[in-house]
Amino acid sequence: MRAEIVRQAAKRGVLLDPELTELCLCQDDPVRFIDDVLSSAKGKFHVCLQDLPAEHLDDAGPRRADEPRELRGASTVQRRRGDISVMDGTDVTGESTCEGKIEDFGRYFQSRYRSLRKMLERRRELAGAMPLDRAMRMDREVKTIGMVAEVSNTKNGHRIISLEDGSGESKVFISKDSPLIDRVIVPDEVIGIVGKPTAKKDMLIAEELVHPDIPLGNSLEKTDSTSSIGFLCDVHMGSCTFLDKQWESMISWLKKESHNIALDYLVLPGDVVDGIGIFPDQLDELVIDSIYGQYAKVAEMLKEVPDHITIVLQPGNHDSVRPAEPQPALAEAFAKEFDSNIMMVGNPVYLEVEGRTVLSYHGRAMDDWISTVQNLSYEEPLKVMEEMLRRRHLAPIYGKRTPLAPEKKDYMVIDKVPDFFVTGHVHKAGHSEYRGVKTINASAWQSQTEYQKMHNFEPDPAILPIINLGSGAVQMMDFN
Ligand SMILES: [Fe+2]
Repeated sequence: MRAEIVRQAAKRGVLLDPELTELCLCQDDPVRFIDDVLSSAKGKFHVCLQDLPAEHLDDAGPRRADEPRELRGASTVQRRRGDISVMDGTDVTGESTCEGKIEDFGRYFQSRYRSLRKMLERRRELAGAMPLDRAMRMDREVKTIGMVAEVSNTKNGHRIISLEDGSGESKVFISKDSPLIDRVIVPDEVIGIVGKPTAKKDMLIAEELVHPDIPLGNSLEKTDSTSSIGFLCDVHMGSCTFLDKQWESMISWLKKESHNIALDYLVLPGDVVDGIGIFPDQLDELVIDSIYGQYAKVAEMLKEVPDHITIVLQPGNHDSVRPAEPQPALAEAFAKEFDSNIMMVGNPVYLEVEGRTVLSYHGRAMDDWISTVQNLSYEEPLKVMEEMLRRRHLAPIYGKRTPLAPEKKDYMVIDKVPDFFVTGHVHKAGHSEYRGVKTINASAWQSQTEYQKMHNFEPDPAILPIINLGSGAVQMMDFN
């Protein structure tokens, strides 16, 4: 039946969101349902749950009668539980407005540019920055802020950045002999340039490059909180490589010890299930081959977590929500499997926990950082996270593997300096600190996959990173 639904959609040139496909599958007459859906979504290329007219949702039943219309496609949003809450304006759940039109993309990139320019304007090195068209008419050193359209190297080893800012565009030249030649510049990042226009005014010779960055003086102050927060990332329930023994020993440890160390919060930063159809021949690696079965199983296992622990669940690229980031929280159809006091949040999200700010992002954009920047690798995700913090953006590179939804604001901008920044996705475990921000890559509960074997990649599974909210100390609990 799944194949039939996909075929119907393909016949009309439409790409169905996996979440919507699942919804079709649980209808009495899936073919008729998909036919109705496609007729009402005429003209759209990518159709997701949010596109459904209300009557379809009512038929399908994923939305409660009392749930506001704007929450269609997302689970009931619980923004606060005890001392943990979602920071306002940081979660796309129920806020998505984009339809993927050209205008949406224009508005999205303008929002990115404005947010990051604001940060750059506060930098001393860029005081008096002027629009690019004006800067290019000057005969002296100028400062300007633009978005990188393209980075290329000349055959003589110099580098050319194509920069634009709405007022104009220009090439920025970095000589192969400049100390700036080794600096990492990625497409679509917003950057400040100090430089001098050439006599012909056709290029700006760069003397300094400025990223928005975390302020130099930022540091992690101690607080009097005695609680801790843990991160259970990349559970990949449903996969034949899910580590049940290690999971069980983690759960029995939680039952015995979580009270003693006041481990009161557990965040699951994405890839809670392995999903269906995420990669070719995935069926061969699944022990639970239904998405509902996968979520039901995780939900059942999470019931074992002691009651004093608040659980926050965020989707990743294997979860059944739209793949484009920012991703909304799990839809009610899946969320209803879980205990109602689990907080369902989007990806990325800022959480406020006992006065601490936690930025939690599954981390799919790491794929694009790693494939674009030469010295980054899957072995060292913490270095990728540093690059994200430096650019104050989780996923600047547009058009590669991470689909970005052109929302009215850019949720991927790191507009607040977090105390703790957590990612998963690459299945490594480690922690570090960058300019007072604790960075954590949060392991996985799946052993080496066929794909990882093929790429000679050794994951660090079954490790639970725990942060003491008061001191900021990180402990990596190993359950291997
Ligand atoms: Fe992932």
